[in-house]
Amino acid sequence: MTYKGLIQKYKEYLPITNDTPSLTLLEGNTPLIKAINLSSKYGVSIYFKYEGLNPTGSFKDRGMVVAVAKAIEEGSNHIICASTGNTSASAAAYAARANIKCSVIIPSGKIAYGKLAQALIYGANVVAVDGNFDEALEIVKSLSDKYPITLVNSINPYRLQGQKTSSFEIIDALGDSPDYLCLPVGNAGNITAYWMGFNEYYVKNKCTSLPVVYGFQAKGSCPIVENKIFTHPETIASAIRIGNPVNWDNANKVVNQSGGSIEAITDEKIIEAYKLLASSEGIFAEPASCISLAGIIQKIELGEIKKQSTVVGILTGNGLKDPDIAIKNIKKVKSIMCDEKKIKEIIFK
Ligand code: F0G
Repeated sequence: MTYKGLIQKYKEYLPITNDTPSLTLLEGNTPLIKAINLSSKYGVSIYFKYEGLNPTGSFKDRGMVVAVAKAIEEGSNHIICASTGNTSASAAAYAARANIKCSVIIPSGKIAYGKLAQALIYGANVVAVDGNFDEALEIVKSLSDKYPITLVNSINPYRLQGQKTSSFEIIDALGDSPDYLCLPVGNAGNITAYWMGFNEYYVKNKCTSLPVVYGFQAKGSCPIVENKIFTHPETIASAIRIGNPVNWDNANKVVNQSGGSIEAITDEKIIEAYKLLASSEGIFAEPASCISLAGIIQKIELGEIKKQSTVVGILTGNGLKDPDIAIKNIKKVKSIMCDEKKIKEIIFK
């Protein structure tokens, strides 16, 4: 059957009514790629759910399509979000598609260039502020309380409803739940959504069990790990530079219920994993996403991911969104004379 988008495909699991407009950019339906080289290196079946192949290049599209469709159903014609980049790109795209207004508030100079380009080209009203994500989110919450604007950050329950569908696709692809699920944690919406998805789908699909969920935050931005608000979160993984996650309690529930944990990973390890993923599997994901691989390696080394088990890492965003980071972390390309002999010397060195 032709794929008609996430709302159409998972209607029975989503809060969809006859009045919900059909909206789609054919989000979802992303590949679950077996990491053949890393799996044989570590003796674990490692798969990556490549969410960077969604229409705007991140997992946010799954939740945004539902949030925007419901906003329209409820009579709204203006959506708003605070964002470290991907939410704003996704909100802007779906607002353009649905012909409604979109305002995005972003921390000035702190979002990847590709994401900023997306929000602008899709036609959003982009406001850059001298503050961090958490401060921007407070203002967005206050504005949406006072005025007829729909907030589409992950406090909006429809976002999590859409995002949970990725778990359905994982079960459909593997024929069971994986033993472990590893993913980045920022505002902690996604970890909450995945858990919801596995819980709703696994009995009906006769899975043997639920996965153990391991979430990862960057060391300079790990409020859940340290159980304290970070007023000045810092990390190279700008997508998860968040000091006071809105779904904090939910994230703790997920790890308690699944027998997992949330742990911190240094920027150095994030960049190592970022390069390793691309060079060993041919998959380019943004730094925040690569914390999944850094976390998988850490857990295998600690024996907390068992040999021969199946693990799924979520690659939340596409590497092309942030080429600056790639170029900064790879050895410089020197330009030489355009001469066959010189080129031959270099490529056969
Ligand atoms: N990975 C990427 C690439 C993200 O953009 C985000 C969040 C996360 C992981 C964390 O997901 O917040 O549900 O725990 N980005 C948000 C944004 C905050 O504004 O784009 P989470």
